[in-house]
Amino acid sequence: MADEFSLKAPKGTFDTLPPEGEALLQVRTSMAEGIARAGYAYIETPVLEDTAVFVRGVGESTDVVSKEMYSFTTKGGDDVTLRPEGTAAVMRAVLEHSLHKGALPVKLWYSGSFFRYERPQAGRYRHFSQVGAEAIGSDDPALDAELIATAMDVFTTLGLTRVKLLLNCLGDHNDRPAYRAALASYLDGLDLDAPTRERAKVNPLRVLDDKRPEVQEQLAGVPLVTDYLSADNRAHYDTVRELLSRCGVQWEESPKLVRGLDYYTRTAFEFVHDGLGAQSAVGGGGRYDGLSASLGGPDLPAVGWALGVDRTMLALRAEGVRLVGARTLDVFVVPLGESVATAAFELVTLLRRAGVRADMAVDGRGAKGAMKAANRSAAPLAIVMGDRDVAAGEVQLKDMATGDQTAVPRESILSAVLAALDELDGPTPRRPVGGSA
Ligand code: HAM
Repeated sequence: MADEFSLKAPKGTFDTLPPEGEALLQVRTSMAEGIARAGYAYIETPVLEDTAVFVRGVGESTDVVSKEMYSFTTKGGDDVTLRPEGTAAVMRAVLEHSLHKGALPVKLWYSGSFFRYERPQAGRYRHFSQVGAEAIGSDDPALDAELIATAMDVFTTLGLTRVKLLLNCLGDHNDRPAYRAALASYLDGLDLDAPTRERAKVNPLRVLDDKRPEVQEQLAGVPLVTDYLSADNRAHYDTVRELLSRCGVQWEESPKLVRGLDYYTRTAFEFVHDGLGAQSAVGGGGRYDGLSASLGGPDLPAVGWALGVDRTMLALRAEGVRLVGARTLDVFVVPLGESVATAAFELVTLLRRAGVRADMAVDGRGAKGAMKAANRSAAPLAIVMGDRDVAAGEVQLKDMATGDQTAVPRESILSAVLAALDELDGPTPRRPVGGSA
């Protein structure tokens, strides 16, 4: 007997198997369609970047950079990192290719894998998937609002009803120093352990994010950034909120929301879901007006978000939303014997080229095995074909739900299948290969 198979996906990573894979694709597609509708164009950057992109962009004092990066030196001596997030990488690409010298804002979206060496727990993985969007080169509050509204609409489209928007304004280099000083002096008077005290020295804002109750209790009277905003930043924040109200987006003010990456300025937000436990953010983002300069580029205001695909899947599960009827196939072709396998292959190819999702029984299965495969496939239609049918120039079209079977001339099988599918699904546009439907 063979040894038990012992290889496993690395710790903190997981495989998405069918039928869950279909739901995952649908989540990504909804996110992509939502953001593309707002005029964002698709960009793809490498999964690897020079380590400096993240050290300079995300900030050395963040957990992401100081503890969680998959960094290594290549055989050629380059220091590279598997991307822990997309914003710094997209900004690097924009600056490298001078996209910011064309029409502004540059509006981009992306989708892919990200890597953080975190302590794995429910909703927190070492490999995860995000769909992100960035609007670079404008500080118009309409962009902050459009991104937030688009994300909320994506969650609604997916069927989620329990996503809450947390909103804050973090100020910028004009108002941050005074706030930082006030915060640091408040934190000085608290009873904090040594690592937290150290964190307070390097980046006092980060302490606000400390989830431990003994810390949160002491933060009850902490100075809030929103009390230190300049008139300009307050006006910017007011406009963002006005625009959100106008389009019916609700939020909760969250004056202690600081986010885990150092590049944020002014508007900061998170989308949280109450069904996920500690890792409740299904997405987050904000303005990052200083990121371009910290990578060596010009001053370039920008705003963006990233939505967590994996956590959105968990939120869907928590709300009991079933995304797809998980139907992956329209028709399953059943050749009754080897002699009709070639004709079946031709037919399945014809159907696929016409935009129908079609599969067939393989491995020369007998009639019983092939019918079993058709049942397992969950396709609503089957085409059964034996020697006699093929000789008579016809096939049997079977409705799998009712068991009804009709003989259809071979040359009209495509229109019969399309008509049967339209009856099942309503008229559905299909994309044939090489032409219009
Ligand atoms: P982030 O808040 O670090 O922001 O990540 C965005 C989302 O990615 C989170 O809300 C969460 O859903 C998901 N996520 C993050 N880490 C993990 C993990 N370890 N396991 C599972 N899901 C995770 C950013 O990454 C920024 N680049 C967003 C942004 C774009 N800001 C401006 N533009």
